[in-house]
Parts: sequence; structure tokens; C-alpha cells
Amino acid sequence: MKFSSKFIHGIALVGQYCSKSHLICHRVLPLPLAAFLLIFALIVPMEGSPNKASNILYDRGNMLKQKEIKIKEDEESKLRVRSEVIHGASLNDQYDSITMPVYRTTIFGFKSVEELFKRGVDILSGKRDDEFTYVRAGNPTNAALERRLAKLESAESCVVTASGTGAISTVMWTFLKQGDHVLADTTLYSGTRVLLGELLTKFGVRVDFVDFNDLSLLRKSLKPNTVIVFFESPYNPALKINDIAQIAKIVHSYKKDIRVVFDNTFATPYLQNPLLLGADIVVHSITKYIGGHSDIMAGCVLGSKEDMQKIRFTGIENATGAVMSSDNAYLALRGLCTLPIRMDQQCKNAMKIAQYLEKSPYISKVYYPGLESFPGHKTAKKQMRDFGGIVSFEVKMGFEQMKRFVNGLKLIKLAGSLGGVETVIEHPASMSHFNYTPEQLAESGIALNQFRLSVGIEDVQDLIDDLEESFKNSVSR
Ligand SMILES: Cc1ncc(COP(=O)(O)O)c(C=O)c1O
Repeated sequence: MKFSSKFIHGIALVGQYCSKSHLICHRVLPLPLAAFLLIFALIVPMEGSPNKASNILYDRGNMLKQKEIKIKEDEESKLRVRSEVIHGASLNDQYDSITMPVYRTTIFGFKSVEELFKRGVDILSGKRDDEFTYVRAGNPTNAALERRLAKLESAESCVVTASGTGAISTVMWTFLKQGDHVLADTTLYSGTRVLLGELLTKFGVRVDFVDFNDLSLLRKSLKPNTVIVFFESPYNPALKINDIAQIAKIVHSYKKDIRVVFDNTFATPYLQNPLLLGADIVVHSITKYIGGHSDIMAGCVLGSKEDMQKIRFTGIENATGAVMSSDNAYLALRGLCTLPIRMDQQCKNAMKIAQYLEKSPYISKVYYPGLESFPGHKTAKKQMRDFGGIVSFEVKMGFEQMKRFVNGLKLIKLAGSLGGVETVIEHPASMSHFNYTPEQLAESGIALNQFRLSVGIEDVQDLIDDLEESFKNSVSR
């Protein structure tokens, strides 16, 4: 080997996916250890030798075999959700790493043409999900996250994506064609509304928006060419609650193969499992609660194995390319571990803030599914484990006072996203839903004096003090 080639190929990369296939993985053995192993391999006969070293190797092989069996048993036994976010689905890492390593490689090589064909067939036929070729269709870190998310949502399979928007658009590009019909709720995250109402329609897909709280209108709006029914609950930002089981039942009794697609971003798999209520596909913006620290952009799609094969190999691989990076998959796995404890605190804080706001003289309306006075409360109680961390409210203030109120907040930051550990406030009409016409705002239940609070895990009294002080100061001048 020429000196310059040694920089690239000088020592074999060792790793579960490299050993099969000669590839670049993030873990390269330290040089002295690698040299030792090389000499060791040359002088120690590997098989049939009575010496101690080969016995150790043999035992290790046996241990691995036993471990494989144990993993299968573990996977079959159902853990409770607080354990499942940490242990659910094996990481499938050869070194038994406790946290899943980041595989920072775009390609996975093949030892031979025969192996290329075999692995290609295995992957494309869905026989194996631990084989990788090119990163657009997956990598080991993303696969570990996919297995864990699938467990948490009780899905057969999962595909992670670059963002929540990437997840939603990939579903659309995978299953729709010209002439198809999509029925969606009027109240949607604004980006989804634009995708459905303005972009898909450019390609000959008809999209209708109706209020999914009106079940007879929903039933009447289904058409023979309806392919997808799309909705959220709780809805961003006015927290409207839709009855997932009822909607799925109505749609499927009209036509079995319509895909009921549900955005579960606000509730997360910890609070609500739409697939168990009859939805066919669930999408998440992991950017929000699952990531939980306002530091990653990511998403996922969950559903049947067959649908996820299509999402991966038609949608992601050839249509959108909305691939999650392995760094983000690592952070999402880390975020998942604390999802239940964060969510519990966020729900508790949100409830206290909603109760405080309900009594406040500065507030004309509070939107929180946990309040008995909230229109969707009973349905939320039926389908959710708790009511989530978002509270919206309308203030009794003019524009200048509203500005003073936001500027006067010290702890609560003005920011557009949600689901992080820190509390943030936004004004939907001018921020997340700025592109809506006045009619669309009204249809979506967004008032000009309405704010959305994404409640974090801080001490709730500090948050209430911050709100109270700023309310007082903004109206006293
Ligand atoms: C309910 C909902 N779905 C999807 C998205 C889009 O997710 P992302 O920002 O990760 O693309 C958002 C973003 O705010 C959202 O609130």
C-alpha cells in the first residue's frame, strides 16, 4: 500500500456494520490496541485451539448468541412507558454501548457483488432493518431511534425524518397522485395548512378543509377518491380536541383503505397513542417535546411495516430526501429518556397556569383541555393520559398594552417554537400563523388578542409571578 493510501485505508475499521461490509464508522480502534490485535490474530490460531485466548473468543461468541435470545425476550415483554423510553427496543450495538453511538457515515460498503445483491434484496423486501447501504435510507443510530419510537407509539415500524414538516410532506408525496382527494381539519399547524392548501393543489390534488368536530360534516365530505384524512388534537394553537376514535371509525366505515393520518406532536406518545385509537399513520415534530430542549429539528412517521417501507423507499429516498442526521437521532434518543418526567412537570405547570389565568382580571378566555370548562375536555380525558403543556389565552388589552405585556416578561421568552424545558410565549396571529388571511384566522379559532404559552419545567410560581407582574405593569400606564 502506498503511503498516501494508508491515510485512508491503513487500518481496518472495526464495527458491527463495518465488519460485514468494510465501512466508515465513528469508532476506530486506538492504534496500539489495533496493532496488538493484528499481531494476536496472526499468531493465535482462531479455531480448534485449546489455548485460553481462543476459549475467551468462543465464550464471547456464545455470550452474544445468548444475548440475542435475551434481547428477543426483552422485546416481547411489555415495559411500562417510563421504562420503555429508556430501555424499549434494543439499541442493537455490538459493544453494548449504553447510549447509541453516532454513525457519521454516508455509505456502507459491500465485501463482494454477491453481498451487495443479498443485502439489497434483504433491505428492499423489508426482511431486515439492520442493514444499511446509503444514508438516505437509514443508518444504525436512526434505526435505534426508529425502533424505540415504534415501541412507544405501538407501531409496527417508524421512519425518522429531518423535521415534522419533512414527515408530513413525505407522507403526502408517498401516497398521493394527481386526481386524489385529501380531507383535512380546518384547524392545523400553519405550515401543514400551506402544504395541503397551496402546494399539493398545484399538482392536481384536491384538498378540502372542514371542521372535524362536526362529525356529520366530516362524513359528508368524504369522497370516493379520498386517499388521506389529516388532523391534529390538541390543535396548534387553540387546542381544539378532535375525537380520534370516532373520526377513524367514520372514515374507515366509509372506505377501509383511506389513510387516517394524525399529527401527534402536541400530545407525544407519552400522553396519547392514536394508532391504538384507529389512526393508520402518526407523524411527530420531534423538534418539540420529544427532543425537548429546543436544540434539534427532527420528525418521524409511524405506521404499518408496509406503509413505512413505502415512506422510506419512495417518499424519503426518492421524493423528499428529508433525512434525519445521525447527530439529531442521538439527541432525540437522549430527549426521549426524560420525556415522561418533563411532560409530567409541564402538564402540572400548565394546569396551574391555566387555573391562574382563568381567575385573572386581565384575561378574557383561556384555552386548556384540562379545564372542565374547555369544550373538548371530556374527549381529551377519554383519549389522553394528561392534558399537555400548551396553554393559550386571550387578553383584555389593546395592541400597545399587549406589546408592553410581552416586552415586560422577564423569565418567559418571546419565541416561535414549543415543547422545550423553558417557557416561551408567542402571538399566533403575527408569528406562527402570520400567513393566514383574517378569514383563515377566524376559521382556525385564532384571535388577534390571543397568545400561546408553551409551558416549561421551571418552578410554576416563578412563571405565574412573571405573568402577573407583566400584566400589572402593562395596564397600569
Ligand atoms: C403540530 C405541529 N406539527 C408539525 C410542525 C412542523 O414541525 P417542524 O417545525 O419540526 O418542521 C409543527 C411546528 O410547529 C407543529 O406545531
